[in-house]
Amino acid sequence: MDWGLQNRLFRMINPVTRRTVMLACDHGYFMGPTHKLENPRRTIEPLVSYADALAVTRGVLRTSVDATWRVPILLRMSGGSSILSEDLSDEGVISSFKDALRLNVSAVALSIFVGTRHEKQTLLNLGKLVDLGNEYGMPVVAITAVGKELEKRDARYLGLACRLAAEIGSHLIKTYYCTGFDKIVDSSLVPLVVAGGPRLEKESDVFQLVYDAIHDGAAGVDIGRNIWQHNAPIAMIRSIRAIVHEGATVREALQMFEENRVNHGNVMKAVTVD
Ligand code: 5RP
Repeated sequence: MDWGLQNRLFRMINPVTRRTVMLACDHGYFMGPTHKLENPRRTIEPLVSYADALAVTRGVLRTSVDATWRVPILLRMSGGSSILSEDLSDEGVISSFKDALRLNVSAVALSIFVGTRHEKQTLLNLGKLVDLGNEYGMPVVAITAVGKELEKRDARYLGLACRLAAEIGSHLIKTYYCTGFDKIVDSSLVPLVVAGGPRLEKESDVFQLVYDAIHDGAAGVDIGRNIWQHNAPIAMIRSIRAIVHEGATVREALQMFEENRVNHGNVMKAVTVD
């Protein structure tokens, strides 16, 4: 891996733990003003210092993220459909590579929709982005998207999607956690980070997901809704960090959550005004 590409990658991945906690705030590109992300700055600002990287579109980056904040950016480059479309897989590339360089981002991300009508176009988009990424030293993160079909999140499907992404040349892959995840890690050739998905019922469910993902070999997580849709988002991300970077158990993460929920009460109130 060339120096520039490696350097950008290790802005997002802690070089000591070799893991990462990314904060995902790129939902608006197809979901619009998602609950608790209506005003991205209000959501992101209190959390940004706890994130190893921030996943956003260029629109959110330019309007809602200060250039002075010391957070590496994972720029979402794919889009073109909305939550109102029948088929979310009809995506293209929505930002130029030149703009990604101008924005000085640490990596670019693009969704692939394996097994859908638009499988081919999303895989070819990934190939083109990887060519540019290799040329300019920019890591490319493939996202194995499932659209509205959340039930697709099983080892057979995700193992296939991750391997395709790796064969096309992705430097990192964002996917979902599932039973048999260790086998997906083994066959995916490049590091995997796990997305959170829709809100889980209990804090312990989130911490268990993170714990299992890390223990099955994930290089980290890229979580959005299970952090910022929670009424104690700072306490959530701090406990997630403890699992990912400090080897905390689910029980320790829960204990820490209860302590931080009290200590950060005022800050969280400001973040969670509906
Ligand atoms: C949105 C995404 C998100 O970044 C990804 O799903 C992670 O966020 P969440 O934890 O809320 O699922 O790709 O399109």
